Amino acid sequence: GFAILNGNIIDRSEAKVDVEDRGYQFGDGVYEVIRVYNGKMFTGAEHLERFGKSSDSIGISLPYRTEELLALLEELIEKNNLQLGIIYMQLTRGVSPRNHAFPIEKVAPVLTAYTKEFARPDESMKKGVPAILTEDIRWLRCDIKSLNLLGNLLAKQKAAEAGCFEAIQHRGENVTEGSSSNIYIVKNGVVITHESNNLILKGITKDVILELCLENNIPVEERTFTLEELANADEVFLSSTTSEVMPIVEIDDKKVTEGQPGPVTKKLQKLFQLEIE
Ligand code: PDD
Repeated sequence: GFAILNGNIIDRSEAKVDVEDRGYQFGDGVYEVIRVYNGKMFTGAEHLERFGKSSDSIGISLPYRTEELLALLEELIEKNNLQLGIIYMQLTRGVSPRNHAFPIEKVAPVLTAYTKEFARPDESMKKGVPAILTEDIRWLRCDIKSLNLLGNLLAKQKAAEAGCFEAIQHRGENVTEGSSSNIYIVKNGVVITHESNNLILKGITKDVILELCLENNIPVEERTFTLEELANADEVFLSSTTSEVMPIVEIDDKKVTEGQPGPVTKKLQKLFQLEIE
């Protein structure tokens, strides 16, 4: 297949980076995962906007205009003949002799992207998935989609070892987000999810879901909620680019909604389905 290296689309096997790329050495960079349905990016512009914000917030300037980048990604999808899958894209501060402080000399950021076929998780969306709880040990800028994912990785690994799909992270009593997803509870018909601040990533899928709630008179509260509220919720679900609207039907071996996806979750799945058709 083909990959993007800086402004060019080349054979993936030719896309090489230096051992002193700061993304490789320090995780000094940012990334995005964009869904492709029917050969088209879903919410591509929104992902690129967040990509720009993430890179700005760590002082890397995106060396391409949004339209240029969108066109380049569209070309990549076409060349790779991708119908249903994802684009992974990352930008690092570039290559320079190892030093924690940013390079003094101007260094060119390194952009890479590739595509991958990725089916919709139909079975899991229908049945729901199990999750575990784990303390959120990450830093205080989770709003940046940074390459530094060790906290997320350790949480996800814990879930994997427990045979679970996701780890629901909490800072003390407060639920933040999943290791690679946003978390929602439903109580008395109200959808509740953590406000978009420095403690979570502002999911693009979250934005879509909250908009769908607004348009369909489903009440929403964007606020911090507690482990106790999670334990007493009528429904729990998560969202991400790859998981869409995913029911959580078990947390730490305790069933949620009698182990079935709940009605509000199912309604949101239907509405989301209409968005991507
Ligand atoms: N993860 N929170 C975290 C920590 C995430 O890593 C993600 C996405 C989300 C959901 O964001 P979005 O709806 O924009 O995908 C929330 C991607 C898919 C990943 O790292 O693979």
